[in-house]
Amino acid sequence: MMMESLEVAAHVLSGTISSHSCSTLHSNTSPFISPWSIDGRIRRKRCPLHARALSNSNVNQNLSRVRGILHSHKRSRHVMLQCQRNESSSKITSEDGNRSWVKDAVSKASQILSDVNGQTQTVIGFDEGAIKTGDDKSFLAGTNDHASPKRRGSSFEDEAWCLLQESMVYYCGSPVGTIAANDPSDSNVLNYDQVFIRDFIPSGIAFLLKGEYDIVRNFILHTLQLQSWEKTMDCHSPGQGLMPASFKVRTVPLDGDDFATEEVLDPDFGEAAIGRVAPVDSGLWWIILLRAYGKCSGDLSVQERIDVQTGIKMIMKLCLADGFDMFPTLLVTDGSCMIDRRMGIHGHPLEIQALFYSALLGAREMLAPEDGSADLSRALNNRLIALSFHIREYYWVDMKKINEIYRYKTEEYSYDAVNKFNIYPDQVSPWLVEWMPDKGGYFIGNLQPAHMDFRFFSLGNLWSIVSSLATTHQSHAILDLVEAKWSDLVADMPFKICYPALEGQEWRIITGSDPKNTPWSYHNGGSWPTLLWQLTVACIKMNRPEIAARAVEVAEKRIAADKWPEYYDTKQGRFIGKQARLYQTWSIAGFLVAKLLLNKPDAARSLWNEEDADIINALNIMVDSNPRRKQGRKVLKKTYIV
Ligand code: GLC
Repeated sequence: MMMESLEVAAHVLSGTISSHSCSTLHSNTSPFISPWSIDGRIRRKRCPLHARALSNSNVNQNLSRVRGILHSHKRSRHVMLQCQRNESSSKITSEDGNRSWVKDAVSKASQILSDVNGQTQTVIGFDEGAIKTGDDKSFLAGTNDHASPKRRGSSFEDEAWCLLQESMVYYCGSPVGTIAANDPSDSNVLNYDQVFIRDFIPSGIAFLLKGEYDIVRNFILHTLQLQSWEKTMDCHSPGQGLMPASFKVRTVPLDGDDFATEEVLDPDFGEAAIGRVAPVDSGLWWIILLRAYGKCSGDLSVQERIDVQTGIKMIMKLCLADGFDMFPTLLVTDGSCMIDRRMGIHGHPLEIQALFYSALLGAREMLAPEDGSADLSRALNNRLIALSFHIREYYWVDMKKINEIYRYKTEEYSYDAVNKFNIYPDQVSPWLVEWMPDKGGYFIGNLQPAHMDFRFFSLGNLWSIVSSLATTHQSHAILDLVEAKWSDLVADMPFKICYPALEGQEWRIITGSDPKNTPWSYHNGGSWPTLLWQLTVACIKMNRPEIAARAVEVAEKRIAADKWPEYYDTKQGRFIGKQARLYQTWSIAGFLVAKLLLNKPDAARSLWNEEDADIINALNIMVDSNPRRKQGRKVLKKTYIV
């Protein structure tokens, strides 16, 4: 108890405390103007499209929203983190580097588009840190010259870079994340004007691949400061170690000074989110990004910091805490990941398990051995082994397995029951019998007592390949299935979030008749371009990049012309989603990461986990000691002591 309090204190206090608060002092109160805020303003003005997005009526709306929130903020004692300077945030890359790639991207885009339009476009330039343009986004996105694939390819990428740059959010003058969507035509922003942890991952990876490390480092350190602050909902606080779903930078009056303002980071742990869903995936993604940051930048000093080490441990402790659960998989409520609404994925959804596995591996790799860390290290190892055995063994389906389930006996009371979870064969529904290809297989969406959710969830399957939760054989089989089911999973826009959609009575009961999640829309069988990046990492890892390249080609045909929607609707992904945001940052970043990786496949290495020899060995021992399994599996020389 004592130890934990100390750790929490260390977490909050260490490293990042500095005397610099980010107050913007108005010049009539003081001749001193914080260089941070000046810098911030200059940076914000850099990309004029961004400035326009915030201009006019939007600004007024924003201001009144901030005031309203401030009011409730005081009442409910929401945690606002005072702006602190990260003491060495500029160590790794220089702002100049940042400028030069933006400059290059923008001037290339300008050049190409002027050629395309046959006009002299002199409006885009780069001047003293500010990009000037005389046109709006439609200038970039709406060009109707899609004739030359070569030209089209590069101009789309340049446009995507520019849009990604515009989506950057600054805190005290430093970039700390990217806004979820930057759609100037949308007046109902909801929380899409926030930085979502999960949405930032592809942005962060795009920046890492481009050598822009500052924003990722800042994101990691600032979100860490938000972790575990006491947030309450109806008198109940979420577990310590929880990372927020999203945060917003707000400018608020400085306490006790009528003329000064300060910027604050205001996190949402789900207590304001639609449906009050718990962001279980945030902490897992945070660990994954932290590892990628170290691998790509070579800067291990971030993961070695005491506060970062404590942050990793807190996430792990929260995930490893004992509960009532019988399975090694994480037990969560509905909507606790990318699918953040009721979709019948409560229990042990695959996506969370794949991210959990990756985060366990990342934590084990990054945690420094120290006095008293043996217990945690043992717990991590044991969980990794149990989790991979459970998923590989019980979540896997292919033709052979479906046939086995179809012939299952039920009501077996014994330690070595074949049908351990008492699955009734009737659950093998007709769509599955039709759909399962002869060659290929996948992990089911969820497993509970007497319940197998046979829907195919893309992110969980792709991330199982990336993290090596799937065996090599299973990984190839998942990609075989993607190829065999191309017209269902890719069709006119990659990539289906899940297959098939819930329809009729099932939709009514499982989603609660959710009008946003109607069949083949949004989370219920919609198509999400952001998934391109996970598909690309998975394909490169399995040495089958051509699959991802084909999918990127499909997306390229329309994604920019459609203004980078959040998702697409219909079975084939033919329509822009009913309520899809445009200029959705993770659609832009997902596309960019896919492109970058296909150009430089070696870079994908920093994003995946190789299969771990200790885990394979332990699994082999478990499998071989099971009397039902056939013999003949070789145990690796190295033995594993559990
Ligand atoms: C939607 C998505 C969620 C995403 C958020 C912000 O709610 O379901 O995964 O994080 O939008 O883009």
